[in-house]
Amino acid sequence: MRLSLSGTKMAGLSGLRSIMEDVAASTAGASAGAWLNLSVGNPAPIPEVRDMWRAALTESMAEDFDEAGCRYGPSRGSHALVEAIADYFHRTYGWQLGPENIAVGPGSQMVCFAAAALFAGPGAHGERRIVLPMAPDYTGYQGLCLHDDGIAAIAPLIHREEGHRFRYALDIEALRRRADIGMMLISSPGNPTGRALGRADLDALTALATEREVPLFVDHAYGAPFPRIAQVHTEPVLHDSVVNCFSASKAGLPGERIGFAIGHPTYMAPLAAFMSNSVLHAPQLAQYALARVLTDGRLDATTRDVITPYYRAKKRYVDHLLHELMPADVDWRMHSGEGGMFCWLWVDHPWFEDTALYGRLKERHVFVVPGRHFFVDPPRTPGLAGHATRCFRLSLSADEKVITEGVHRLADVLREMRDAA
Ligand SMILES: Cc1ncc(COP(=O)(O)O)c(C=O)c1O
Repeated sequence: MRLSLSGTKMAGLSGLRSIMEDVAASTAGASAGAWLNLSVGNPAPIPEVRDMWRAALTESMAEDFDEAGCRYGPSRGSHALVEAIADYFHRTYGWQLGPENIAVGPGSQMVCFAAAALFAGPGAHGERRIVLPMAPDYTGYQGLCLHDDGIAAIAPLIHREEGHRFRYALDIEALRRRADIGMMLISSPGNPTGRALGRADLDALTALATEREVPLFVDHAYGAPFPRIAQVHTEPVLHDSVVNCFSASKAGLPGERIGFAIGHPTYMAPLAAFMSNSVLHAPQLAQYALARVLTDGRLDATTRDVITPYYRAKKRYVDHLLHELMPADVDWRMHSGEGGMFCWLWVDHPWFEDTALYGRLKERHVFVVPGRHFFVDPPRTPGLAGHATRCFRLSLSADEKVITEGVHRLADVLREMRDAA
């Protein structure tokens, strides 16, 4: 077999995927229950959320199946969903949208993959890259590019805060120095940190996108208007240079693969065409189910009454737990913000290393995710080499008992690493 250059890249496993394989292999089989998995990116299994999706899919199965399941549909998205999206965003934000402003895909990851192929890579103006304005960001972005070295990330400014807190800030000047931007992509609120763009940062990014004539993709997978898993500082804006991406996944339906983008027709037309040329379209039954819950208010009500409060309470619980259990003489810090699916932790000591922590915790049947995977090439990013490897991500999706035992073991391992230094 001979793989092409992009084939070689895409056939390989990214750092995080290889860890996910490790987690899957280790937790398979009879001893599965013995593992404490604090690495997962799955949304928490909240019964009310499952019930909402089960009901919506059941209704679609009963009423929409002939139309949805037994024929191909439009690449831009089913008429029912495209119309529901336009109505929903008109009601929610007053946006005036037509089908030309919308492109549905099988998950927002695929929408972003299509965007990366369309707007980054070699072209008439040289090599253009996907630029992530603020690392760390969703590790899945690193697999979006078919070319080696096709993605770059800007190191954040790091601010220590009171107590065991810190936060990242956008370094807009460093971003402006890049001449090779083909598109910008940022999750807000972000994975893994939960940091959300404020209005001034969003305006600065939008102005830069306009100046460079490139799209700014803002990925709202955790944010507004649904599922509001993490704190939102500014609602999505409609602007010719901004493409807003939304997903049903973190609102509880990751397995059915539905995401969509809203933006100017200049960007939406090639995205819809890409769907046509690649996957044809997103699964239709799930599109009909999403249309139902957008239209009748169920998704908004579930977001407000169940999803947001659930993750807020969970984050508060883990925050208390960390303060209670982490060794007092260790400089550990958690990224600021309320809610979110994760805790992003920084242990600022020379003796700490993320992969060493991963290995030691794995020996104790606990999985966390090493921090380096959320940065692009940290050793070559000025200011990040010593930071990325001192961070790790804890998932809040597991139940409280599992998280509590996991944090106990984490604290023991930190003591051990400190004493060994
Ligand atoms: C920021 C972010 N965007 C997108 C995705 C994937 O979304 P989808 O399931 O819609 O492809 C994830 C999944 O973890 C994510 O964290």
